[in-house]
Formats: sequence, structure tokens, C-alpha cells
Amino acid sequence: MAVYQVVTIGDQILRDKAKTVTKFDDRIIKLLDNMKDTMELEEGVGLAAPQIGISKRVIIAFKEDEDKVIEIINPEIIEASGEELGDEGCLSVPGQVGKVKRYTDVLVKGKDARGNDVEYRASGMFARILQHEIDHLEGVLFVDKIVKEEIKE
Ligand code: CO
Repeated sequence: MAVYQVVTIGDQILRDKAKTVTKFDDRIIKLLDNMKDTMELEEGVGLAAPQIGISKRVIIAFKEDEDKVIEIINPEIIEASGEELGDEGCLSVPGQVGKVKRYTDVLVKGKDARGNDVEYRASGMFARILQHEIDHLEGVLFVDKIVKEEIKE
């Protein structure tokens, strides 16, 4: 177990497309442990492996209704519907928040640490976290998607 320094915006690894995981071994278990420790210390609600400098398709996310952190390896959005604007931030972009448009409901499938199929039907905050983390695997940051608010006079 170890806490990693979170990579911040400007580092190329956050812009690279992360690699698909093909081997489900102890290294993945260890990576997930390290990601969970890091996210807990930083008080985040989601984390993608590139954020600790590992360019692999691995994400973790806080699932509020079960009060636990779930992991998905090689996650893919296979269904999506609705859209809503909501505030986001990111451990890799310290001090910045902004409104981003996301699907309200998504179905995400992938693998667990042992290579078994998993799927999560997500809505609201959990759906938002999953979309944000999956974006990280494509080298996309929430700041790329911020919707400018109308200026009220
Ligand atoms: Co992020």
C-alpha cells in the first residue's frame, strides 16, 4: 500500500490514451490498492490510473448508495441517456471547478481486479464520476468540457 503523488495538468500522461489491461495479476491488485489509498488521502470521489502516473485503463469511483469505492478495469459506456449540467473538479486540476454536461444515466461495463465481467447502471453523481474517470483514460480533462455560464446583468 502506498500513497502516490497525483499528477497535475500539464503532464503529458494525462493527455495520453491509456492502455487496455490484458493481465489480471497481483500488479493490478496493488495498483488498485495504491489508487484507493491515494484517493482517500486526497479526499477525492474518483481516480483514474493515469493520475498516479500509470497509463492503464483502470478507474475507481465512490458509489454513494453503497458507501463504497468500486473499481472498473477497461471500462466502457455501453448505454447512455439524458443530460445534465453539474459542477466538477479534479485532483489533477487543483483549485478549479466548472460546470460540465454529462449523461444522466449510463450503463458501464468492464472487468474487476480478477478479470470477471462487471457492469454498473449509474445515475446522477455516480454516473458523473464514471464519465469523468473514463474521460481520463482518453486523455480528456473536465476543463476541456466546461460550459461557460451565462453572465447575468
Ligand atoms: Co479527474
